[in-house]
Amino acid sequence: MASRTFHIQTFGCQMNERDSETLAGMLTEMGYSEEPARDEASIIIINTCSVREHADERFFGTLGQLKRVKAKRPDTLVCLCGCMMQQQHIIDRVKTKFPWVDVIFGTHNIHNFPKLIKAVAEQKEHQVEVFPDGGEIVEGLPSKRKFRHKAFVNITFGCNNFCTYCIVPYTRGRERSRKASDIIAEIKKLAADGVKEVTLLGQNVNSYKGEEADGSICDFPDLLRMVEGVDGIERIRFMTSHPKDLSPKLINEFKENKKLCGHIHLPFQAGSDDVLKRMNRRYTSEQYLSLLESLREARPDIAVSTDIIVGFPGETEEDFEKTLELCEKAKFDSAFTFIYSVRKGTPAEKYEDQIPEDVKHERFGRLVDVINRSAAEKNAAMKGKVCLVLVEGKSKNGEGIMQGRTDGFKLVDFPADESLEGEIVKVEITEGKTFSLRGRLSE
Ligand code: 5AD
Ligand code: SF4
Repeated sequence: MASRTFHIQTFGCQMNERDSETLAGMLTEMGYSEEPARDEASIIIINTCSVREHADERFFGTLGQLKRVKAKRPDTLVCLCGCMMQQQHIIDRVKTKFPWVDVIFGTHNIHNFPKLIKAVAEQKEHQVEVFPDGGEIVEGLPSKRKFRHKAFVNITFGCNNFCTYCIVPYTRGRERSRKASDIIAEIKKLAADGVKEVTLLGQNVNSYKGEEADGSICDFPDLLRMVEGVDGIERIRFMTSHPKDLSPKLINEFKENKKLCGHIHLPFQAGSDDVLKRMNRRYTSEQYLSLLESLREARPDIAVSTDIIVGFPGETEEDFEKTLELCEKAKFDSAFTFIYSVRKGTPAEKYEDQIPEDVKHERFGRLVDVINRSAAEKNAAMKGKVCLVLVEGKSKNGEGIMQGRTDGFKLVDFPADESLEGEIVKVEITEGKTFSLRGRLSE
């Protein structure tokens, strides 16, 4: 092959983003370089997601585009990975409708990717490797980071919660925790490489339980303390947290841990206890609100974001209004809002009373209005405050404008020199909009 370039198109959550960084790291070590134009690359990887709305349609649409690339340049290697590849019905459909796909691998097979592409080249045969479940965690894989000054660090893989709408426990397997010593070693290396902010990743970081070779156990708050002790790291974030596992010990970290940022992503999903029960979430709306109260006691300015699903099977108008009520009471800084859609193989697929599309959309519109109002109010209240901002890079909103994140994970635009990238600077907020802030550098 003339050029040795790759392009990775990533769908979905931060886990997938992190997996793509590992794939990029392995390809870089093999001598490949990144090609920004997908259809020009000699290796194209599509890292798929099965959670987001219309994921299947978008994915098969992308394959339609790649068919034309493959027809023009048959040497291009097309590789598919990510959560969708853990579903047999998707693999079957790819094999029959898109037989020219070169490599399919699962979420538990990332470490074997170099071996798979070598095998295609040598055997001139398609390669499919999808393990149904995780097994041992593979340490020491390379990584090519998207950002110089911030990094994502996996602490757990998989999920044991089996929320009835969710495909993740089936695509990412049972929950496994990395050893704290491996995590800290990785973070020390990142700090030495100039990283100031780490985001600890897991489907439910709160249930992290690291076991060392000597049998000692480390829980999530213990881990946060250890990360606090790493020189060079100035900010710690984590996501995602399941409310049922948000312990007082963890809440206390928001008071005590000097590097832990004042933001929590705490999905509540639905305001009706009846719906929560059928979702198998194992908390009530009252318990959720009391957690927020404790968090705000520990850190009064904590920013809270959430995930909400509308139109879960059997959701009545009354149930839905409880979701709106909870949003009013909780005063979220932002939220990811989802219209319920069936995932094959999940318990909720079999639930009766699936909600008609028009009802789901009407409720969704009302929910988005409430959320946007709450976000705008929260952001407007930031006006005049001076925040510490990690400068991430140039903003798309004009020449000479830089962009960064506040401690509360709010995006802020402000006029500044490019040389400030990677610095933590003081910014006075001059305007709060629905989805972002504007500001100016402050003393
Ligand atoms: N339908 C709609 N939203 C879903 N989510 C997960 N599964 C589904 C589904 N079947 C949402 C949840 C979760 C977020 C990552 O995606 O809100 O927290
Ligand atoms: Fe899915 Fe629930 Fe696990 Fe989150 S906690 S990944 S929603 S099963």
